[in-house]
Amino acid sequence: MGINKVTILGAGLMGNGLAQVFAKDPDTKVFIRSRKLRPNPASGVRSNLDILIENSALSEAEAGNILSRISFTDDLEEALKDADFVVESVVEEMEIKQDLLRDIEPLVREDTILATNTSVMSITQVAQKTQKKDRVVGTHFWNPPYLIPLVEVIKGEETSLEVLDLTYDYLKKIGKKPVKCLKDVQGFIANRLQHAIWREALYLVEAGIADAATVDESLKYGPGLRWPHLGILENVDMVGTDLSLNIQRGVLPYLADNKEPSPLLEKLVAEGKIGFKTGEGYQKWTPEEADARNRALREYLIRVTKDLK
Ligand SMILES: NC(=O)c1ccc[n+]([C@@H]2O[C@H](COP(=O)([O-])OP(=O)(O)OC[C@H]3O[C@@H](n4cnc5c(N)ncnc54)[C@H](O)[C@@H]3O)[C@@H](O)[C@H]2O)c1
Repeated sequence: MGINKVTILGAGLMGNGLAQVFAKDPDTKVFIRSRKLRPNPASGVRSNLDILIENSALSEAEAGNILSRISFTDDLEEALKDADFVVESVVEEMEIKQDLLRDIEPLVREDTILATNTSVMSITQVAQKTQKKDRVVGTHFWNPPYLIPLVEVIKGEETSLEVLDLTYDYLKKIGKKPVKCLKDVQGFIANRLQHAIWREALYLVEAGIADAATVDESLKYGPGLRWPHLGILENVDMVGTDLSLNIQRGVLPYLADNKEPSPLLEKLVAEGKIGFKTGEGYQKWTPEEADARNRALREYLIRVTKDLK
C-alpha cells in the first residue's frame, strides 16, 4: 500500500511538529485536524520552519513547499477522507484516545493504518475499542519530531506484522530513523533506557556522591559523547563480552534498584521546585538561562542531525 495522504489528529505541540515531518516528503499530503481552527492555524508549523531557516537547515522555498502540502481543518470527515495513514496526537488520556479511534473507524478505509503517538500508554489498550485492532500501531515520536530522527514503531498485541512493516518502511522513506519495538512494554525502548539512567543519576545526587551539575558533566563529557556514534551494546563487543561480564558482576549489586520514584524528586515537586518553569529544580535557572538552554538544544540538534546518516 502506498501512503500519500496522512491525517494528524490533534494540533498541539506534537501534532504541528508531525505535520512538518510528513509534509517534508514531496509525495505526502497532510491534513491536520483540530477541534477548533485557530485564526492563523499555520503559525505553529511556520515558527518551527523559521528556526530551521535561521540556522541554514532549510531554504525559504523548501519551507513554502512543506507548508503547501499541509491542510488545516476542523472537519473530521474531510480530514479522514481517503487517508492512508492516521496519527492521533491528542492529549495523553486513555479514554480520549480509545474513543477517538473508535469514532474515526467508520470514517476511514478498511486498510487505513491507525497510529497512536502515545508517550507511555499500552498500544493494545489504546486499540481496545476499535473493530480492526490489527491496523492499530504505536508510533512514538520524540520532541521536537522534526529534529529528533527516532520513531519507535510499537507492535500492540494484535497489530499485524504487515502494518508494523508498512509503518516502519514509510517512516524510513520520509527520512526518519524508525526502530521496531516488538512487544507492547511500558516505556517502549528508548524511555526504558533513559529512565534506567535517570534512576541512577537521581540516586547519585540523593546519596551525596555528586551534585546535579557534576552528574550531568560526567555523561556529557564522557560516555554521552560516544553514544551518537557507538551504541552501548556495540561498546560491549568493543571492550569484550568477557570484560563486560566481570564489570556487571562487580557493579550491579551497588546500583540503584528502587521501584518507587526518588524521594528527593518527590520533595522538589512538593516544594514547587519544578525546574525551568519555576526557576528551580535540581539547579537554579533564571528565565534567560532557561530560554538559552531551550534554544541551544534546538540549534545543537539542527547541527548534529544535518550530517546524520
Ligand atoms: N510533548 C512531548 O514531548 C511528547 C513526545 C512524544 C509523544 N507525545 C504525545 O503526543 C500526544 C500529544 O502531546 P502534545 O505534547 O502535542 O500535547 P498538546 O497538549 O500540545 O496537544 C494536545 C492536543 O490535543 C487536543 N485534544 C484534546 N482533547 C481532544 C479530544 N478529545 N479530541 C481531539 N483533540 C483533542 C488539544 O486541543 C491539543 O491541541 C500525547 O499523547 C503525548 O503523550 C508528547
